[in-house]
Amino acid sequence: MNDSPTTSTSSPSPPSTSSVGRVLRVSGPLVEVDGIDRTAMLDVVEIGPSRLAAEVVSVTSAGRIVAQAYEYTGGMRVGDGASALGHPLSARLGPWLLGGVFDGMLRPLRGGPTWLAPGVLRAEGGGEARWRFSPKAASGDVVSAGDVLAAVPTAGDVEYRLLVPPRVSGAVEWIAAEGDVGEDERVATVGGHDVTLAESWPVRVPRPVTTRLDPSEPLATGQRVVDLLFPVAKGSTVAVPGGFGTGKTVLLQQIVKWCNADVIVFVGCGERGNELADALTDLGELVDPRSGRSLLERTVVIANTSNMPVMAREASIYTGMTVAELFRDMGYDTVLLADSTSRWAEALREFSSRSGELPAEEGYPAGLASAIAAFYERAGTVRTLGGTHGSVTVIGAVSPPGGDMTEPVTSHTERFVRCLWSLDRDLAYARHYPAITWRRSFSRDAGAVGDWHGAAGRTKWAADRARAVALLAEADRLAPIVELVGLAGLPARERMVLLGARLLREGVLQQSALSKNDASCSPEKQSALLDLALALYERCLELVGRGVPASVVEEIDLAGATRMRDEVPPDDASSVTRRRDEMLEILAAVG
Ligand SMILES: Nc1ncnc2c1ncn2[C@@H]1O[C@H](COP(=O)(O)OP(=O)(O)OP(=O)(O)O)[C@@H](O)[C@H]1O
Ligand SMILES: [Mg+2]
Repeated sequence: MNDSPTTSTSSPSPPSTSSVGRVLRVSGPLVEVDGIDRTAMLDVVEIGPSRLAAEVVSVTSAGRIVAQAYEYTGGMRVGDGASALGHPLSARLGPWLLGGVFDGMLRPLRGGPTWLAPGVLRAEGGGEARWRFSPKAASGDVVSAGDVLAAVPTAGDVEYRLLVPPRVSGAVEWIAAEGDVGEDERVATVGGHDVTLAESWPVRVPRPVTTRLDPSEPLATGQRVVDLLFPVAKGSTVAVPGGFGTGKTVLLQQIVKWCNADVIVFVGCGERGNELADALTDLGELVDPRSGRSLLERTVVIANTSNMPVMAREASIYTGMTVAELFRDMGYDTVLLADSTSRWAEALREFSSRSGELPAEEGYPAGLASAIAAFYERAGTVRTLGGTHGSVTVIGAVSPPGGDMTEPVTSHTERFVRCLWSLDRDLAYARHYPAITWRRSFSRDAGAVGDWHGAAGRTKWAADRARAVALLAEADRLAPIVELVGLAGLPARERMVLLGARLLREGVLQQSALSKNDASCSPEKQSALLDLALALYERCLELVGRGVPASVVEEIDLAGATRMRDEVPPDDASSVTRRRDEMLEILAAVG
């Protein structure tokens, strides 16, 4: 794509223009170059003998540019050569993405997130690999952008679809026959445009769609507090703010493992490399229930961990988004997870302070809010150019320093997302995991998701959610009063509220990522567990209503209810319902 991206043709050219210059100054990732006047903002320049990639972030009339280098600039000297490539930072897309691990510029990291030798941007994709090509169009067909030209099977059950590139349409003049093809081999000619398996796309430019639709179908995450209380619709946006060690990484990885999206893009952005390596091992071992194969085969991992060059971190979330959009365009539901967007914002801050930009809040660049907004805005459920439906759901962890939720990255992000899963330090200390607090979290998708469940006949979903939220809120209101007057000082009904909320917290909302039965939970078991907690609560209320002393009800052993989440397999709802009936009988025998 991007057939003529240089801007030199559109601007009045100085008498002699050059796309080659030399380095004037280097300061960390900031490189000043002189002598290049044939380049544009955000174009890529290659610098020095090892042709390190950098992006133009400032241009002056005197042929002087400032570029941000994506790799370590150690060893770079004044006078080193620099040449403008004439196109913006682009990702090389193709069937090798699924199951792969890449750096922030989408260059493959074979054998996991190890150090990569500095090199050129136009790095090889899968190299010499050959791919099975099954044409889905014939010579003479008239096609337009987004139509499927061919299918390319991959290791997993997600088929890679070669689409007519955006902005290309017309008659299929030639298409290769079924067979093995290389990545850069011409496989079709459409409207005079040659198509190859490898496609290049500028990462900062959203891929075009026909229309954006309102998200309504829930993304099933297998995590009860999310699916029952703060659901996210496919194509929506979520922020997961949480202080140090509150469980952001575990939660995001649980979603990678258990959510019902077709393709997962995980961007490890400035976090610990060993965590990512462990997660990759886990994913490799986990079996995808849909295909019976390794989960890794429908996952794309972009690793830009804390030990890797800081500015590539800045690019990595755009690269990840571009990959997610590519699979969306093929008609898939994709999820992009970024851990953590705070480290990405720190990369922005590092660069802006070096470039002498006037800092805004806490040293972040003035454009921080708009950069965050622009990132989340690329999420969505869409009708693709090819006419099918696809979605990109974005889930970003935010790590506020010192757990301060008022700091700029957290507060701006909260304004732009539809759902907030706020992790609470007190819950994490109490080992209530996932530590998503019902006090600060919200889901603007809850209404649409409730309607969606209602339309599928699960009319109880919205009502049960409302009861659970109300019960938790009332228990929170009572908590400080109990501190003052003690439990015995409360009326019996309010004591039952506290008991009900405890059942809900321990039996439904807590979920161990480490337990075989509990790590993930089917929608049926989720509803059954919620129903169990609410039914017991109602029955306890009835008992005190009939005059049974609250202390008698509180003595009843209800642990059989809270243990169910861990005792039965993830999809065993009927055992939960049986236990509910047994426990209701026990309660019926009281009083
Ligand atoms: N759902 C869960 N089930 C069991 N344990 C959990 C769960 N969530 C978090 N934990 C525990 O909390 C610990 C810290 O979690 P995690 O590493 O995800 O925190 P974090 O917020 O990503 O931390 P950091 O700020 O350092 O990145 C984990 O090692 C694990 O022991
Ligand atoms: Mg973490």
